[in-house]
Amino acid sequence: MKTVNDFKKMKASGEKIVMMTAYDHPTAAAAEQEGVDILLTGDSLGMVVLGYPSTVYVTADDMIHHGKAARRGAQDTFLVVDMPFGTFRGSEDRILAEAVRIFQKTGADALKVEGAGEVIETISLLMKTGIPVVAHLGLLPQSASVIGGYKVQGKTAESARQLIEEARACESAGACMIVVECIPHQLTKQLCEAVSIPIIGIGAGVDADGQVLVFHDLVQFGTHHLPKFAKGFSNAGEAVHSGIRSYTQAVRDCSFPAAQHQFTMKEEELDALYGGARS
Ligand code: KIV
Repeated sequence: MKTVNDFKKMKASGEKIVMMTAYDHPTAAAAEQEGVDILLTGDSLGMVVLGYPSTVYVTADDMIHHGKAARRGAQDTFLVVDMPFGTFRGSEDRILAEAVRIFQKTGADALKVEGAGEVIETISLLMKTGIPVVAHLGLLPQSASVIGGYKVQGKTAESARQLIEEARACESAGACMIVVECIPHQLTKQLCEAVSIPIIGIGAGVDADGQVLVFHDLVQFGTHHLPKFAKGFSNAGEAVHSGIRSYTQAVRDCSFPAAQHQFTMKEEELDALYGGARS
């Protein structure tokens, strides 16, 4: 399994880091087989799998349930699990109890927390406890309702400067990596140069040290609208619909199950069962 040190070396040598989300066993296993560097059981789970309108409804128990499944599917891939809404605020005891529970139960290699400000102390607290932390800056989906929606961040010189300061603070607090979401691509290069830990972009342009995409976006399954920054690399949605359509039709016209899908009883057993009454 690649480690935090390997990711730092990849950044230093310019080798791009590949990250994607996974919330279940088969997806995680497929990603591992295809050589993905990092898996994220993100709280995007709430929207793309659980059908919630945003990530704020996702609980620690949801993250544990899905993080464990991803871990079982990919035991040799670095796994990051999100701390969901509200679980990394409040007293140190409360934050630690939630973090330790998620970390131990999922077998994750790192936890991800959104934001800077007081979250910097949380990053430091977790690191001191022995839990590697991935920071998340730029657009913070858990705070979307506070900032008035899903908006590109860091578009002014002042907010760009603040973002760079936040990235430095995350690194100083001990974060092993930073996910940056929806920022102008020109700022990404500056961010990558400002810190020695990898910057993983989503909607942050090609200059990030690595990229992360939500699985359901990259295979186009269940997501009605692809965000501007995402790309569908295959069309699983099409394949799934086509399979269900064909199955429905085959049941209705009795072409399924066919002879090869049935189990057969021997003639003598049938005679013993029904005797002469068999038609
Ligand atoms: O929850 C998630 O999937 C994420 C990605 C958008 C980075 O945080």
